Amino acid sequence: MVGMVTRPIAIPLIDPFARRVKDLRISITDRCNFRCTYCMPEEGMQWLPRDEVLTYEEIARIAKVCVERFGFDAIRITGGEPLIRAHVVRLFEMLKPLGVDLAITTNGVKLPELARDLKAAGLSRVNISLDSLIRERFFAMTRRDELDRVLAGIDAAIDAGLAPVKVNAVVIRGVNDDEVVDLAAFGRERGVGMRFIEFMPLDADGQWTGAQVMPAGEILERINAAFPLRRVAVTPGHVQPADRYEYVDGIGDVGVIASVTEPFCDNCDRVRVTADGNFRTCLFAVEEFDLRAQLRAPGGLDADDLDDRLSVAIQGAVGTKWSGHRIGADNFVRPEKSMSQIGG
Ligand code: GTP
Ligand code: 5AD
Ligand code: SF4
Repeated sequence: MVGMVTRPIAIPLIDPFARRVKDLRISITDRCNFRCTYCMPEEGMQWLPRDEVLTYEEIARIAKVCVERFGFDAIRITGGEPLIRAHVVRLFEMLKPLGVDLAITTNGVKLPELARDLKAAGLSRVNISLDSLIRERFFAMTRRDELDRVLAGIDAAIDAGLAPVKVNAVVIRGVNDDEVVDLAAFGRERGVGMRFIEFMPLDADGQWTGAQVMPAGEILERINAAFPLRRVAVTPGHVQPADRYEYVDGIGDVGVIASVTEPFCDNCDRVRVTADGNFRTCLFAVEEFDLRAQLRAPGGLDADDLDDRLSVAIQGAVGTKWSGHRIGADNFVRPEKSMSQIGG
């Protein structure tokens, strides 16, 4: 049948807590054209040397092994800011034949120029970060005066059919929590799914405190007071970190990602690869597994046993996946890397 993708039989990858791992998040660069306060310092980030960053061919090979050997059904490209990497459209052309859900998380600035080509190359959907609708505050939070271009990026994503377009706002108490209702209204007007995210201890400055976390429950109360909400039942299949609600008046929906107060770890089906080819089994993992060493061993991508070696490394890593992060607990250990170095 035209368009049918035939694949070898895949063996499900099950972690020690009986969760099936099937969602791969790949960071393709640690660099970014923004400097969001909750993610990066203003200056002084140490960028990966270019030769340590995986090539598109290497990235596509890891993706192929995860899909063909283990039946992964979703791939998300992250950064840093993934759309600043040169020739990024080509990567989607390379991933498209895998036939899985292809998504990206971006700050949106490059979407006005890239959205159409990305869609044509195979990108299915996009999540865009937008923490404030007030120009000065947007500037203060991202350290870039780019609100208008991000808004244009959201429009470009909608126009290109990169649906559903989701918009992520990290809510920080005392910084932008007073905008929750305005952002919800924005989502309703534009027909995009706003998602409000609890601030996590992954900022590069190490400034995070629990007091700055606005709990998802409080976010929902504020939205509900302005636009009444009801819970959306969870649909089996794609595991989302967001708890979803729809507006009672039928105009749109909204999500909250309660990573701190109500982590979704029990349902976690995801693993990550950093821009330099380290495999991580959790956003908060303290251990990494070097896949680049396998990709660049003698024979390189032409080595006959490369897929086997990558599979063994991935299986071994998944065997160490823990039940969940322990933010707030006495034994919580902050990862050495910040969000942009891990890949959101
Ligand atoms: P979809 O639901 O598939 O659209 O994706 P997503 O929500 O996972 O994607 P996105 O990259 O937009 O992530 C949104 C937010 O979810 C991020 O900002 C993180 O705060 C949070 N998040 C993503 N992955 C994890 C994870 O593995 N653990 C935790 N605790 N939070 C995560
Ligand atoms: N806490 C919560 N979310 C964060 N993001 C970046 N840093 C943090 C943090 N410390 C979000 C961005 C983006 C996604 C990649 O991760 O806003 O939506
Ligand atoms: Fe860049 Fe995203 Fe980090 Fe902001 S949150 S600095 S846009 S990688």
